[in-house]
Amino acid sequence: MMLGLLLRGGLGLLVLLWSFIPPLVSLRDLAERPKLLLVSFDGFRWDYVNRVPTPNFHILMEEGVTVEQVENVYITKTLPNHYSLVTGLYAETHGIVANDMFDPVLNRSFSMDTDSLYESQWWEQAVPLWVTIQNSGGRSAAAMWPGSDVKIHGMFPTRYLPYNASVGFETRVEHIVKWFSAPEQEAVDFGVLYWEEPDDSGHDFGPESSLMDAVIADVDEKLGFLRNELKKAGLYERVNLVVTSDHGMTQLFADKIIELDQYVSRDLYTWVDKSPVVGILPKEGKLDEVYEKLADANPYMAVHLKDAIPERLHYRHNVRIMPILLEAREGWTIVQNRSTPHMLGNHGYDNTLRSMQPIFLARGPAFRQNYVKPAMRSVDLYPLMCHILAIPPLPNNGSFSNVRDLLHPEPTVSPPSIPTPAGLVRPSYFPVVVGSFLGLMLVVGFLMVFVQQVTLKQLPSLKHASREMSQPLLQEDLHL
Ligand SMILES: *[C@@H]1O[C@H](CO)[C@@H](O)[C@H](O)[C@H]1NC(C)=O
Ligand SMILES: *[C@@H]1O[C@H](CO)[C@@H](O)[C@H](O)[C@H]1NC(C)=O
Ligand SMILES: *[C@@H]1O[C@H](CO)[C@@H](O)[C@H](O)[C@H]1NC(C)=O
Ligand SMILES: *[C@@H]1O[C@H](CO)[C@@H](O)[C@H](O)[C@H]1NC(C)=O
Ligand SMILES: [Zn+2]
Repeated sequence: MMLGLLLRGGLGLLVLLWSFIPPLVSLRDLAERPKLLLVSFDGFRWDYVNRVPTPNFHILMEEGVTVEQVENVYITKTLPNHYSLVTGLYAETHGIVANDMFDPVLNRSFSMDTDSLYESQWWEQAVPLWVTIQNSGGRSAAAMWPGSDVKIHGMFPTRYLPYNASVGFETRVEHIVKWFSAPEQEAVDFGVLYWEEPDDSGHDFGPESSLMDAVIADVDEKLGFLRNELKKAGLYERVNLVVTSDHGMTQLFADKIIELDQYVSRDLYTWVDKSPVVGILPKEGKLDEVYEKLADANPYMAVHLKDAIPERLHYRHNVRIMPILLEAREGWTIVQNRSTPHMLGNHGYDNTLRSMQPIFLARGPAFRQNYVKPAMRSVDLYPLMCHILAIPPLPNNGSFSNVRDLLHPEPTVSPPSIPTPAGLVRPSYFPVVVGSFLGLMLVVGFLMVFVQQVTLKQLPSLKHASREMSQPLLQEDLHL
């Protein structure tokens, strides 16, 4: 009975002591929580940094890693690629297959230019990284990243700005930096930041125009502003900064126009999405007729039946991909007739074309310095970010082993990277040591009391023992 009492008392004490440990764990681990900021300058082609002085991009290259060739996902449009960056999935799997879509199951149309953008159902074939982070107890922030102001699987980013193209880059940065540098319990672990340039100007002027030089120089200054704000907030050495883009840009030509009206009547099909990759939805029973009219219509336009879209494009297995897919040759534009306003630059073409590929730079505590890697795929970024943030990745089409060399080599005696219940905290030996020490002290104390009690019980008569039992403290225990 004595033993039971002491055990109970000991356990109570243990619980009491342990209640002091968790705050120690979270305080210490929070300070070590890895941070990552993903930045996209829309339409920033990989070679833009070589055509005008871009000192801020070049500092990043010296301080961190550069990947020379990044194969993004097909189609090389804004929404599909931004969603791939935060899911690690090809468009056919994450479901945002184009900027303009039709879903025959939902019987609904989607366009990035209408409120349909905010309908959750379009986005929920995948789970973006910010949702996964929040589900494991972490916090995230978004400044205008495509899709980040849509409720996805019941969640918005912990902190976000609703999309508004009039909000300047500097304001977006100020919000993101504020959210990263909030008090520890409030601070975000992961942020996404988006800027519309140099895409807008690339469409208007064409990437080969000398007018693009000033646009690229301005984006470099914006990157400089971001670096400076991170420094001012004391975050520059703590945050892993990834600077990339969704796609590149190629020059268009006024005489490289393919007019569908010349080949097939508009009454036979519905036009989905825009040039240079066009989804064609034939009217009921008109598939064969439309396909035959278009198949050999123009040498600068590839015409694929859905089942015959090349496997390497990973652009087939989704109801939102139309029965016929048209793809213009680089530099060519597909229209119905010439009344469509003509752009001087565009993207969307084959993702293996160099002109369609984005820049990729990264720096921060996790990354190597002054390191150049020849190639990666943009879907590899997702498992890389999950590794840095110590988040288990969801199934994806990337591969961490393809990009592991971008990071500092793992220490030889590395702690196991099993996420703790808080999800994001890296294992630390400090609380284990404190806990073990306190535990040991407790056991020693317990043994001393136990031995003393047993000795008292055995040596004197039973009367002595019952006298011990009448001690108020122990008696109280008995009635519990
Ligand atoms: C699909 O929606 C349209 C209206 O947008 C409607 O006219 C049509 O009947 C619907 N089709 C089906 C199969 O429900
Ligand atoms: C968008 O931002 C601009 C500039 O800050 C502001 O004047 C405008 O009211 C905002 N629009 C909306 C819909 O919030
Ligand atoms: C071109 O198409 C528009 C509708 O998209 C139509 O209004 C116009 O008449 C067409 N022009 C010609 C020359 O067919
Ligand atoms: C991409 O990943 C998803 C999720 O694991 C999987 O279902 C799909 O088959 C993958 N696609 C390819 C082409 O491997
Ligand atoms: Zn664009």
